[in-house]
Amino acid sequence: MSTTDLSEICQFIAADLDAIESKLLEKTTSHYDFVDLAVQHVIEGGGKRLRPILLVLSAKACGYEGEDAHTLAAVTELIHVASLVHDDVLDEAPIRRGHETLHSKWGNKVAVLVGDYLHARVLSMLVARRADDAAMRILSDTTQAMCEGEVIHAYKNGDFNVAQDDYLKIIGLKTGKLITASCEMGAMLGTEDLETIHAFTEYGESIGTAFQIIDDLLDLVSDETKLGKESFNDMREGKLTFPIIYTRGVCTSDEKGTLERVFSTEADEDWAIDWITKLLRRYQVQEYCVQIAQEYADRAKAALVGLPDAPAKTALEQLADYVVSRDR
Ligand code: FPP
Ligand code: MG
Repeated sequence: MSTTDLSEICQFIAADLDAIESKLLEKTTSHYDFVDLAVQHVIEGGGKRLRPILLVLSAKACGYEGEDAHTLAAVTELIHVASLVHDDVLDEAPIRRGHETLHSKWGNKVAVLVGDYLHARVLSMLVARRADDAAMRILSDTTQAMCEGEVIHAYKNGDFNVAQDDYLKIIGLKTGKLITASCEMGAMLGTEDLETIHAFTEYGESIGTAFQIIDDLLDLVSDETKLGKESFNDMREGKLTFPIIYTRGVCTSDEKGTLERVFSTEADEDWAIDWITKLLRRYQVQEYCVQIAQEYADRAKAALVGLPDAPAKTALEQLADYVVSRDR
């Protein structure tokens, strides 16, 4: 997979990203040293800041340049970080963004509560904006959908027969919603035109799906050092993902039997990882996933076709391709 340089795409919004970075820490400061330490661990622990970038670009593409975009962008990242802290507890993941996960360092209790604390900060940031109803509505719908997606995914844990359509619905909820909300809220800062806002909804939904398909793929094919998290974790946790759903449908019935066995019980063993890696190569699963993700990315770009040409529009188009070509 080739890499498109995200920092190059975002060069012209560097000042916005710096302001958001400051806001992330400033708005999560607590009166208690240990809370600060734990929050800093997850906020300063890296990450692509994709949701803030999308929010700022969407706002700019609709003509908005004010500071409220920084607040809302910080809000989307905090929701994201909180959801990952909880997700890593659910997935028992040891590493995230190249660092020890919060629950590995300080235990599940601290991790669950730090996630809750970040949510509390989000609420207070929203209230401090003097309650913009649209953002409140979008974000409450979004967090509800993310929880619903994760609950369904957890319920399906260990199930080898989840249908592809059901899986796409789950990822639309757990990943797509917050990405879409970031795009919509950015757009709404600059415009009230429903058709334009809808274009950003479509853009967000499509890159959200592309993003998660590649996320699923990287779990199986990427180098752990580059990825910044443990690979094969989805299999190990009994989480059926897009590449495996595809492979299940194209391999022989013998291979399918072994795949199910590996998925259910033996995903941790070296021979199993080796066997799956060969199976994925045999059926060109990486190429297939990239092709499907690129179709979603192309759909995202097509949604923006009615917008006037501007650097932010170009960056959003490039970002759609980045989501597919990224290697971490
Ligand atoms: C990562 O998925 C997880 C998500 C995209 C959503 C997590 C959502 C929750 C835990 C629900 C609670 C959310 C809120 C806002 C309270 P993944 O495990 O496929 O990706 P990974 O490989 O990066 O862990
Ligand atoms: Mg996870």
